[in-house]
Amino acid sequence: MARSTQLLLACLVYVCFQTLSLVSAGRQRYQILSAGDEAMLQGTWSSGSGRVVTGAGFFDPRTRSFTPPNVPGTAYSFTRDGFWEFAKYRVTPNPRKPQCITSQLIWQHGSYLLHSNGTIQLYPIAREGAQLLTSSCEEDGGNTRPEEMYDVSEEYTKVDTWIDLHHGVPSAAIRLTDAWGNRSPMLWKIYDPPMMLPTDAMYLEYIGIP
Ligand SMILES: *[C@@H]1O[C@H](CO)[C@@H](O)[C@H](O)[C@H]1NC(C)=O
Repeated sequence: MARSTQLLLACLVYVCFQTLSLVSAGRQRYQILSAGDEAMLQGTWSSGSGRVVTGAGFFDPRTRSFTPPNVPGTAYSFTRDGFWEFAKYRVTPNPRKPQCITSQLIWQHGSYLLHSNGTIQLYPIAREGAQLLTSSCEEDGGNTRPEEMYDVSEEYTKVDTWIDLHHGVPSAAIRLTDAWGNRSPMLWKIYDPPMMLPTDAMYLEYIGIP
């Protein structure tokens, strides 16, 4: 009896110690990024279960077509030398017609600047990105609208990073916060070096637009 109590106590102490060291590791590594921290930003960061990933598995620039992931989500990739890529898959039910589901696929890439005040600006390469909107209901305008050009710059006033448990494994996370305080979902680092398409202008070369 005394022995098992002792064992239980030892286990509790161990668990407490592990938790504490993880928390302090997380605290130690909490950081708000600014100019000079590009190496910490490098990688592919994906929301939720990490099924949405930038790169050729999401968007084919040659055919300008998407491969929808199994589940919705968002991914950003960054290189330490200033390039960025974005992939998003969003599914929205129509509140008036619950049987009608709209899906949105977005891909774009370009260059970024991380400033000394912590603001990050993401500049897309013009006319390279794509958006595809699909509705499951004919009356919502047919199945699939044609793919559209998409190039929308983004700006966030804060990029913070920390270590947290993700599926039981200590992993790096980032979050992007805009000037209105809207925060992106937590994005987990799933690849470093990042999984990305070529970072230069590629589409215009393929189809020969000057
Ligand atoms: C931070 O600095 C950049 C570059 O000078 C500027 O464009 C941006 O507006 C600044 N952000 C804030 C929140 O002041």
